[in-house]
Amino acid sequence: MTDTLQALSDARLVPVVVLDDAHDADPLAAALVAGGLPVAEVTFRTAAAEDSIRAIAARGDVLVGAGTVLTPDQVDRAVAAGAAYVVSPGLSRAVVERCREHGVLALPGAVTATEIQAAVELGLSTVKFFPAGTSGGAPAIAALAAPFREVTFVPTGGVGPTNLTDYLDIPAVVAVGGSWMVPRDRIADGDFAGITELTTQAVALAART
Ligand code: 3PG
Repeated sequence: MTDTLQALSDARLVPVVVLDDAHDADPLAAALVAGGLPVAEVTFRTAAAEDSIRAIAARGDVLVGAGTVLTPDQVDRAVAAGAAYVVSPGLSRAVVERCREHGVLALPGAVTATEIQAAVELGLSTVKFFPAGTSGGAPAIAALAAPFREVTFVPTGGVGPTNLTDYLDIPAVVAVGGSWMVPRDRIADGDFAGITELTTQAVALAART
């Protein structure tokens, strides 16, 4: 779990992927790798999620996790498919505990002091700050990091090329998540070269921080 967090923290970026067709999973993963970002969070928002995670995990060169995980059953399915980490939009004790049983990193959403304190009580030290843009953005994280000195954040939601450095400049931010480098329509159109280009740009921006 520590290794997974370290790898996400090294990557600085977590592409949030929605795959409508599992056949797109492998070329999408290849496009991310070519762009210098061997990480993907595949969301459980489509029926293709599990097969997509399985296909990406089988490559062996991408740190693949599951996103939008709402139930312990989805944790089981994500881990069985090969997910190394589990991201949720909010904080669920049941989901966090199931992740712990499987030994995979849980990254639940938390944006208020109360939610962060609840996550700490569950033994977590990193949360997804979601939806970042409408929850106060970078200033809110900086303010929350003051009392929660041991907590680190992965802001996601409304993060993009114009503001990602605002987040990554905060020491408590280990990585930012977002879909801007993996637009759903580009995946559907098979524009994987375009995804590599967007990814390369995102990696270059993140490297400045
Ligand atoms: C998520 O699930 O993490 C968000 O939907 C990603 O947000 P974005 O599309 O604003 O990057």
